[in-house]
Amino acid sequence: MEKLWSGNLHAALDPVSDEINASIRFDRRIYRQDIKGSVAHARMLGAKGIIPKADAEAIIAALKDILSEIDAGSLAIDESCEDIHSFVEMELTRRLGDVGKRLHTARSRNDQVALDFRLFLRDETQDIIGKTLALLSVLSDKAEAHRADIMPGYTHMQRAQPITMGHHLMAWAMMLTRDVGRMKDALRRMNESPLGCAALAGTTYDIDRMGPALELGFDGITKNSLEGVGDRDFAVELLSAFAMCMAHLSRFSEEIILWSSWEFRFVSIDDGYSTGSSIMPQKKNPDMAELVRGKTGRVYGDLMTMLTVLKGLPLAYNKDLQEDKEALFDAIDTLKLSLNVFAPMVATMKAHAENMRAAASGGFINATDCADYLTRKGMPFRTAYRVTGDLVNECMARHTTLEDLPLEVYKSFSDLFEDDIYENISLEACVSRRVSEGGPALASVDRQIEWVRAFIGKEENPS
Ligand code: ARG
Repeated sequence: MEKLWSGNLHAALDPVSDEINASIRFDRRIYRQDIKGSVAHARMLGAKGIIPKADAEAIIAALKDILSEIDAGSLAIDESCEDIHSFVEMELTRRLGDVGKRLHTARSRNDQVALDFRLFLRDETQDIIGKTLALLSVLSDKAEAHRADIMPGYTHMQRAQPITMGHHLMAWAMMLTRDVGRMKDALRRMNESPLGCAALAGTTYDIDRMGPALELGFDGITKNSLEGVGDRDFAVELLSAFAMCMAHLSRFSEEIILWSSWEFRFVSIDDGYSTGSSIMPQKKNPDMAELVRGKTGRVYGDLMTMLTVLKGLPLAYNKDLQEDKEALFDAIDTLKLSLNVFAPMVATMKAHAENMRAAASGGFINATDCADYLTRKGMPFRTAYRVTGDLVNECMARHTTLEDLPLEVYKSFSDLFEDDIYENISLEACVSRRVSEGGPALASVDRQIEWVRAFIGKEENPS
C-alpha cells in the first residue's frame, strides 16, 4: 500500500519496519472517531472556502457511507494500510478520486490522531463512569439490605470494633464516587480540540478551529499548537484515575476472597461467579475476584507505560506517542470487564449475618465501649483504658467474655460498674451509640446511602 507520506522517499519500507511502524492492528478501533473528526474538518474547509463547498459535501457524504459500511461489516478495514487514518483517506480517495485528496488540506495526522484519541477516550470514559455508577447502585442496595447486620471491623486484620455490613460496604461506595470525580476532572481538562494544530506549527490556511471543536462537543481549543499535538497528559490523568479505580476493586476483591473463605464464612459468592477445582470436589473458588485483583497489575503497568513514553520526549510529535493507544485500550478493557463482573458478583453475593455476628462476639471487640462506659461515669479515659485492659486479661484467664463476666468481678476492678454495664457493651449498643457522622449507627449509614444515591442521580441526570 502506498504510504501517505511518500513525498520524498522512493524506496519501499523494509517489511520489518512496516511491522514496527504500522498501528492499524490496534488503532482500527478508533475508526468512528477518526471519521467523525474528518467530517467536522471537511465541513470547516468547505465553510471557509478552503475547498469547494460541493467537494466538502461529497467528502462528508462519502465519509458517512464509509462509517456505516464499517459499522455494518460490509466494508472491511484493510490492514495493509499503515494506520486507520491512512485507511479512511485511501477509501475516500478510491471513491471520490481527486475530491477525496482534498480532505487532508490544513491538517496533519499529528493533530488528527490527537483529536481522535481524545474523542475515543471521552466516549470510553463516559461508558466507564456509567458502569461505576451501576456498581455504586448495587452497593447502596446491598448496604441497605445489610444495614443492621453486625460484623467485626478490623484494623491490622485484628478484630477492632463492631460495625455493620452496610457501613463497611458504603466505605467502598465512597471511594468509587471519588473515582467518578477523578474521571470527570480528567475529561474536563481534556475537552479541548487539538484539530488545526496541524503538524506542529499550525497552518497557513485561514481555518476556523472553534467551529469543528464545538461540533465535536469540545469546550474550546488547545491554545498552543506544539502542545496540542505533543501532549498526552490527558492519557496519564485518565490512566491514573483508572488505576486508582482498579486499586479499589482489588482491595474490595481481597475482602470478598477473605470473607468467602471457610475461616470467615461472612459471604457466599454465587455459583455464577465461582469456579470449582478439577481435583478437589469440595472447592468453590472466588476466581472472578482474584482475577480483578490480579488484573490491577496490568492497569498499573499501563499507567507506567504512558508515563515512561512521555519521559524525556521532546516537542512536538514523536512516533513514541503511537505507544499511547495500546496502554489505554488495555486499561479500558480491563477496567470495564472488572466493573462488568463486579456489579453482579456483589449483587448476588449472600451475606451470612449469623457468622458475622458470631465473629463480632469474640475478640473483645466491645472493650473500647467498656472503657467509654467508665469514662461516662467520670473516670479519666486513660485510666478507664487501663482498667478495661486488666478486665480483658481477667476474661482471657477465665476463658470468658466481657458480656459473660459476673458483676462482682467487674466491681472488684472498679465500683463504678453497675448492672447496666451489660446493655452498654452489647453489640447493638456498641453500634447504635456510634452516632458520630460517618459512623456505623443505622441513621448514619442511612444518610451515607442517601448521599450516594443522590450522587448517582446527579451524575445520571445532570441538570
Ligand atoms: N499512527 C500514528 C499515531 O498513532 C499517527 C500519526 C502519525 N504521524 C506521523 N507524523 N507519523 O501516532
